[in-house]
Amino acid sequence: MEHPDPGHILQTATAFWASKVLLTAVELDLFTALDGEGQTAAQLGDQLGLHPRGTYDFFDALVALKFLDREGDGPAGRYRNTAATGAFLSKKSPAYIGGLPQMLNSRLFGFWNHLGTALRTGQPQNEIRHSGKPMFEELYADQARLGEFLDAMTGFQAANFQRLAEKFDFSRYRTVSDVGGALALLSRIVAARHPHLSCTSFDLPAVAPHAQKHIDAAGLAGRIRAVSGDFFADALPKADVVTMGNILHDWNLEKKKTLIRKAFEALPKGGAFIAIENLIDDARRENAFGLLMSLNMLIEFGDAFDYTGADFAAWCREAGFERCEFIALEGPTAAAIAYK
Ligand SMILES: C[S@@+](CC[C@H](N)C(=O)[O-])C[C@H]1O[C@@H](n2cnc3c(N)ncnc32)[C@H](O)[C@@H]1O
Repeated sequence: MEHPDPGHILQTATAFWASKVLLTAVELDLFTALDGEGQTAAQLGDQLGLHPRGTYDFFDALVALKFLDREGDGPAGRYRNTAATGAFLSKKSPAYIGGLPQMLNSRLFGFWNHLGTALRTGQPQNEIRHSGKPMFEELYADQARLGEFLDAMTGFQAANFQRLAEKFDFSRYRTVSDVGGALALLSRIVAARHPHLSCTSFDLPAVAPHAQKHIDAAGLAGRIRAVSGDFFADALPKADVVTMGNILHDWNLEKKKTLIRKAFEALPKGGAFIAIENLIDDARRENAFGLLMSLNMLIEFGDAFDYTGADFAAWCREAGFERCEFIALEGPTAAAIAYK
């Protein structure tokens, strides 16, 4: 008989140590501070304003965790970014996705400390825990928090939208409405890859100026419109393809179904509705990230949850869609597609 091994238990139980080391490095903007030459522990510690007591352990933990490279040892050792941290966690890189770890650090790390309370009460554990306000109203009441949240979404979805632009056959369609489009990232990526498409990025009025800034910077103002509205109060902008990235999982079942019905109404016959989410596997045994994301929705919204492909297909059939298919994107994320 195989002896049980406690390794997996211990590794997961202490996983937050590694997570917090990475998140703190992003908080300190360590990866931006490192230049091509590399820096000694003393130089880097001074630059980041750190007490010398913890610097070697902190920087070497990042080496052991494969977030830094080090050439040489001891005081003469020089630390450098790895290819991945230089590309994705240095603000000097156009592919920077540090907004996501920043939000995980400043908001969710603390809120997840109340997971037990969320499980016992079914109540959200974030900023709305005491205010009782709707989540996005509360989140967007503070401009800095709004900016941080929108940047974090970019970190989550950039690679998925790239894969969608490559894998979904957009050649049959002319217009795309991205509902809850945040910084218009999906529209920018899809429009850049498929020059025949016109896109609309639809989101709350507080978000539109931020989206417009990014559309202008990408030189895509002629191809992408940023439209303000409320997807519960207003009709969705009509298009051949309606996309929703991480939108359905923000809401309870009734509101999910309302959004699916509104997507159906916005499409012509033959049109496609695409949800880009961390779809849980139908047996609910394998996609741990999707299941953890669903717990994150409990913490953020209380009654919101992630779902399986089978759930999506059943809701879409109920709304009148003819058939569904699924395309794997990055890691645990998939595009769930329903055709009208
Ligand atoms: C979780 S974010 C997803 C953003 C983006 N689609 C993505 O995949 O990264 C949810 C988005 O829905 C927008 N949103 C929330 N409530 C909305 C409403 N009632 N009407 C329109 N947009 C809304 C938020 O402003 C936010 O940009």
